[in-house]
Amino acid sequence: MASCGRRHARSATSHLLAVCIGVVLLAACGGGAGEGAAPTTTTSANDASRAPDAPVVIAHRGASDAAPEHTFAAYDLALEQGADYLEQDLQITADGVLVVLHDATLDRTARGPAESCTGAVATKTIDQLRECDMGSWFNETYPDRADPAYVGLTIPTMAEVLDRYGDDARYYIEVKTSGAEPAMEQPLVDLLAESGLLDDVSDTRQVIVQSFSPESLRLVHTLEPALPLVQLLVTGAEPTDSAALDDIAEYAVGIGPPSADVNKAQVAAAHDRCLAVHPYTVNDPAEMTQLLDMGVDGMFTNAPDVLAGLREGRPAPLEACTPEAAAR
Ligand code: G3P
Ligand code: CA
Repeated sequence: MASCGRRHARSATSHLLAVCIGVVLLAACGGGAGEGAAPTTTTSANDASRAPDAPVVIAHRGASDAAPEHTFAAYDLALEQGADYLEQDLQITADGVLVVLHDATLDRTARGPAESCTGAVATKTIDQLRECDMGSWFNETYPDRADPAYVGLTIPTMAEVLDRYGDDARYYIEVKTSGAEPAMEQPLVDLLAESGLLDDVSDTRQVIVQSFSPESLRLVHTLEPALPLVQLLVTGAEPTDSAALDDIAEYAVGIGPPSADVNKAQVAAAHDRCLAVHPYTVNDPAEMTQLLDMGVDGMFTNAPDVLAGLREGRPAPLEACTPEAAAR
């Protein structure tokens, strides 16, 4: 069934694709959460071939209020809800495969054989991770939002995410720095280069890489200078510190502060340096509006549909920003 959803290698699977679009088997291809074809995005805000022209909706771990985080079900739903970006948190397996999972350990969100589905991701092979069910925890934790179709959802590799959505989505990828070997930066840049998504990426911003680690972002910047980067900030980081923002502006296009730390002075100081401000993680509509009124350039949310409605009609604050123009 996974073949029905792949956006690449179409010639090799054309017979399967023909089957997928056939009326008789349409239901089979589209059945099961996250198991069918990726949704086609149709709104102008979701035209992933150009930079968004409104404050951006970043689907935090996908539409993770309604579906199990970092599954194709959560990503598909996020796109249907109008998200501009799908967020990925990266971990790396013992055999060097980039996978999409928030935690460094499996215990919270994986179910399956203990030897494969508990403990640190970095100690497992990709074959072991493929044994794990990434949806049942959601049904156990949120019975009011449970869906039998979530049972058995698998952990996506980053390559599978790019293969599924291709040019039809934007990606906001967090390099998690667990200190585990091998490092993630070079494999990630290699994967993105192979995908073709780095062509014109500084203009399209189809891919953004984020991290709490300046060292990690500086390494990515060295490997691929055109790749837009966002420096995540921890709670209480000196958000308007000029020297800190000057440093960040050397390699990044934006900052990602905790939403509670954002204020107008911080937004102004960041914008003076052409740094976008993308707070995390905002699910309350009143807080979303408050942040939009402060001039933020988008935000991470578990509820993309809510933010997509609230940002409607608002301009992208940093459109065509250059440091010279910002200083005037
Ligand atoms: O990446 C922005 C936000 O997601 C950071 O927090 O812990 O959800 O990755 P976390
Ligand atoms: Ca994250």
